[in-house]
Amino acid sequence: MNNKIFFQRDSLIRREHFGTLVLTLDGKRFVVEDKYFPLLQFIALNPDDALSIPLWTLKEADIIKCLDSLYEKSIITYEKPSIQTKVRCIDNGIFSSDALSFPRTVYWESTWKCNFRCIHCYSQPSNHFFDWIDLAVMKKLVDEMVLNGVEFFNIGWGEPLLYPHIFPLLEYCKNAWLMVEMTTNGSLLSTKNIQRLEESGLHFIQVSLDGACKNTYEKIRIGARFDVLLWNLQALKKAGIVISINTVLMKPNAWEILDILQVCEELWVSFFKISPLMETGRWGTNKQMLQLDLKELKSVYETLVDYQKKHQNTPLKIIFNRNLLKPSIKNLSWMPQGHYGCPAWRTTCWIDSYGNVYPCSYMNNQSLLCWNIQQKTLKEIWSQSHIFDQLRNLSSIKWACGDCEYLDFCAWWCRASAYLRFGTLDASDPLCVVHQ
Ligand SMILES: C[S@@+](CC[C@H](N)C(=O)[O-])C[C@H]1O[C@@H](n2cnc3c(N)ncnc32)[C@H](O)[C@@H]1O
Repeated sequence: MNNKIFFQRDSLIRREHFGTLVLTLDGKRFVVEDKYFPLLQFIALNPDDALSIPLWTLKEADIIKCLDSLYEKSIITYEKPSIQTKVRCIDNGIFSSDALSFPRTVYWESTWKCNFRCIHCYSQPSNHFFDWIDLAVMKKLVDEMVLNGVEFFNIGWGEPLLYPHIFPLLEYCKNAWLMVEMTTNGSLLSTKNIQRLEESGLHFIQVSLDGACKNTYEKIRIGARFDVLLWNLQALKKAGIVISINTVLMKPNAWEILDILQVCEELWVSFFKISPLMETGRWGTNKQMLQLDLKELKSVYETLVDYQKKHQNTPLKIIFNRNLLKPSIKNLSWMPQGHYGCPAWRTTCWIDSYGNVYPCSYMNNQSLLCWNIQQKTLKEIWSQSHIFDQLRNLSSIKWACGDCEYLDFCAWWCRASAYLRFGTLDASDPLCVVHQ
């Protein structure tokens, strides 16, 4: 056996109810048997002295088998990488066989304030009693997230660059080694702000682009300027920050999807994410002119699949819900069977600008509130909230689902869509393709 073993990339290793989960920070996910957690922990702590692995807990043959498979997947290497890699090993204890021991991604609304009034936005009309949460509260949350092994902290909703403590908070996350993704409308990415984002360690930014031209974009994003966004995206690219573009599909932009793709290709962005329109917030006022029916949505997705077939060499990664076309896809294949489908409440949660925790950003209804981070720790909320518990243990869905052969793949898919359309958590997802 080699006496020096190194992790090839920054990695997060978490002990979960289904085994030891290895998450590399470039997006790869692997599960190895639970018994290997101490082995990986040992290697992380003693990369130069791997021969002294205590053999009393594992057989040598098992160690070799595990190391061979990690080597094949390029997780470990026997030569010292040129850059030192960081590895965190987290064991939170298991509280449920229906959820991770702590969220993998936490989404946070830094402020409800925004400088745009997008016609589809799910933000609610304001009866707000304050604009944002104190930096001290957020620092405490960051500490808890790091301690319990959060992989990504996603800052968005409202406009995060209007949150006055954004740069100190990013700096704090950088020093705590917490990866941050930011979702922004891109309008406030001045040269100075981009430089500050870079200095604060931001590597990944998601920018919303809901049209391929001035006309469509500015009609949807009221208050926005298309030329400013394109200029800012180019500046971001030059700064070397990884860019993902998010487009919410709706009637005014659906048929220019290939043109939006073209804009992404020309800007050399890394990811293009397409989201369905959720029926909440300002959507209510504009629904007649916005929502696509399932047939239209599928047709756009087919266009995307077609595009990918014809452009296999493009480095652009196109992300959309492929289950809408093929229900047997395991979208969260690293989770156990029956836990694929939507990541919310099993692997992610959402926190609003007052610190209220919800299963996801579209489920921000008072009746789905799972306590506030100023009342309890996120770990307590995650493991004790009866709302999370109810969602994790839904055992039957009314109407169409019945004993559908795809239930193990979708796990009833989007509970937010069902809740928003029908007002109950146990209705079928209106975007289900199997029973339409
Ligand atoms: C609420 S915005 C907040 C961040 C930032 N102000 C921005 O515009 O990107 C986050 C993302 O949610 C999307 N979004 C807003 N309303 C939506 C809805 N009803 N359904 C689906 N996505 C929505 C936006 O288009 C945007 O990409």
